[in-house]
Amino acid sequence: MLNGKHIILGITGGIAVYKSAELVRLLKKQGARVSVVMTEGAKKFVTPLTFATLSGEPVYDSLWLNRVGADSNIAHINLSREADAMLIAPCTANVMAKIAHGVSDDLLSNLVLARDRGACPLAIAPAMNVQMWDNPATQRNLAHIIQDGIHIFGPAHGEQACGEIGAGRMIEPTEIVSLLPKLFTSQSLAGKRVLITAGPTFEAIDPVRGITNHSSGKMGYALAHAAQCAGASVTLISGKTALPTPYGVTRIDVQSADDMLAACQNHVAGQDIFIAVAAVADWKVAHVANQKIKKAHTDDVLSLDFVQTPDILATIANLPNAPYCVGFAAESEHVIEYAQAKRIKKNIPLIIANQGPATFGSEYNQVSLVSAEGVKTLPNMRKDVLAQQLIQAIAEQFRSTQK
Ligand code: C5P
Repeated sequence: MLNGKHIILGITGGIAVYKSAELVRLLKKQGARVSVVMTEGAKKFVTPLTFATLSGEPVYDSLWLNRVGADSNIAHINLSREADAMLIAPCTANVMAKIAHGVSDDLLSNLVLARDRGACPLAIAPAMNVQMWDNPATQRNLAHIIQDGIHIFGPAHGEQACGEIGAGRMIEPTEIVSLLPKLFTSQSLAGKRVLITAGPTFEAIDPVRGITNHSSGKMGYALAHAAQCAGASVTLISGKTALPTPYGVTRIDVQSADDMLAACQNHVAGQDIFIAVAAVADWKVAHVANQKIKKAHTDDVLSLDFVQTPDILATIANLPNAPYCVGFAAESEHVIEYAQAKRIKKNIPLIIANQGPATFGSEYNQVSLVSAEGVKTLPNMRKDVLAQQLIQAIAEQFRSTQK
C-alpha cells in the first residue's frame, strides 16, 4: 500500500531518532519515496548524511534557502504539495505543542501548517519521557491534535532511555510502517468491531501427535490488518501460524476447532462483523489418547474413529444477534457452485470462494465474492492488496444491511 507513495518524514530531537534510520529503510523497502525533514534538535542526535544516504534524497532542514530570487523554491509549500502523506517520527512534546497551536518557526512546523490537509494526511509517533507525556499540557495538546484529524501512532509503554518506565516510548519502525496504510484507506469500518478466525486448527490424536493442515494464516492476518487500517477494532482468533500479530490487533491463540468455537463464542458479543477465514479441521478423533500411542501396541495399521468438529461459522451465524457473517470456501473443483451451496447451508450473506490447494501458503490469491445477488470475480493479486479490497466490499455489504 505504500508502493509509489511520497512520504515526508519529519524527524525531531529525541533519542528515538536512531530508530528513524530503520524506518526510512523499511519505507523504501515498501516502495515509498521518502523526503526527510530534520529539526535542529534531531541533527544533534544523528547527522543528515545518514538520512540522505538511506533515503537517496536531499535532507531538508531550513526554511531559509541559499538562493533568493524569482526562481527560488518555497520549500514549505512545494514539499508538502508533492507529498502523499507526512509522518513525524519521533515527534517530541515540543513539536506536538507547535502542531496543536499552529506555531510555525522552522521548516517542519511550516510544512505541517502549509500542507493541504485533504491531500496530505499527517501522522505523528510521539516519543518522550513518561512525565512529559502524562503532563496535562501534553495531554491537552494531544486532544487538540486528535480533534484536528491527525493520526497518533503510539506511544508505547515500557522502559525509557532515561531509565524511567511508562508511556512515551516511540513505537517500533515495523509498527509505524504497518499503521501507515491507514492514511490511505477509507475509514469504512470506523467505530466497528470485527472478529476474524485465521490459520489452521490442530486436532490432537495423543499428547504428541495431531491432525492439521497447510493453512498459513496469511489471508486471515491480511484481512485483520486491512480491517484495522479501515478503522475497525479487530479481534483475531488464530490457530498456530508463524506470522506476527498485526499492530493494534488483539490476538487470541487457540489450537483445536473446539477451542476456536469457544473463543468465538466468548468474544462475539458486540461484534459487528465476523469473518471466518480459518481452515478448520472437519474431523477430530473421537477419543484422544491420554498417553502416546505406542507402535508396539498396534498392528501395522492404526485405526482411529473420527467425529465431526463443530461448524464455527454456522454456529455464530445462527446466533440470535449474529454479526454480519462472511465465510471462505476453499475448493478444488466447482468452486462457485460449491461456495454458493455452502453459503446457503451456513445461512450467511457472503462467502469468498477460492482454489484451496493453490492458495495455501502463497502470497497471492484469486477469489470470487459469492452472495445472493450473484458472483463477482476478482483478478489474482497479492493477499495484502486483496484484503483491502475485500474489507471495502464487506464494509459496503455490511452497511447495506444496516439501512
Ligand atoms: O464447511 P467448510 O469447511 O467448507 O466451510 C468453509 C468456511 O466455514 C470457512 O469460512 C471456515 O472458516 C468455516 N468453518 C468453520 N468451522 C468449521 C468448518 C469451516 O467455521 N468446522
